[in-house]
Amino acid sequence: MRNETVDPRIEKILFSQEQLEKRIKELSEWVNQTYKDSSNLVVVGLLKGCLPFYAQLIKNVNVDLITDFMIASSYDGGNKSSGNVKIILDLVTNIEGKDVLIVEDIVDTGRTISKTVSILKSRNPKTLKVLTLLNKPSNRIVSFEPDNYGFLVEKDDFVVGFGFDDEEKLRQLPYIGTIKE
Ligand code: IMP
Ligand code: MG
Repeated sequence: MRNETVDPRIEKILFSQEQLEKRIKELSEWVNQTYKDSSNLVVVGLLKGCLPFYAQLIKNVNVDLITDFMIASSYDGGNKSSGNVKIILDLVTNIEGKDVLIVEDIVDTGRTISKTVSILKSRNPKTLKVLTLLNKPSNRIVSFEPDNYGFLVEKDDFVVGFGFDDEEKLRQLPYIGTIKE
């Protein structure tokens, strides 16, 4: 491990900076393979959680792409996911007929991503895939399978760092960890 000072609020590091870099490089390769014949790729990042993952992912993507972003959020905010999802910030790009790759931080209950996918599908992209850094399949409420993911996490792990927040804090940590009670 690199000489990282661990934030005192962190209980346990789940994924170090090195582990994240290595895995994200593999995911960039997956993007290169998946879209090698595409001439109109739009990589849609779901803010704010996707930010470090998104930035690192595209550095090793060699297919031409357009970057764009959305904010989709539960109505009542906070850590608990409500059933209702709304678009707070929409895309700039018209995605009709394009290859769209959604880059998400985590698929947990599946609500946010399912709703976002259905909104974007209604705009008739040519293809639509989902890549998420973390996947928590044991916590699904809405059935959803991402096209690829970085790491699996346990149902009871509430994670922070590398884009993940606890009430908007700790997104800037270069690693992913669990938080102390
Ligand atoms: P959903 O439950 O799949 O709809 O996930 C909704 C959102 O909750 C995700 O996009 C994350 O922003 C957030 N989220 C879910 N699990 C965690 C976590 O362990 N730490 C921080 N944010 C989380
Ligand atoms: Mg999110």
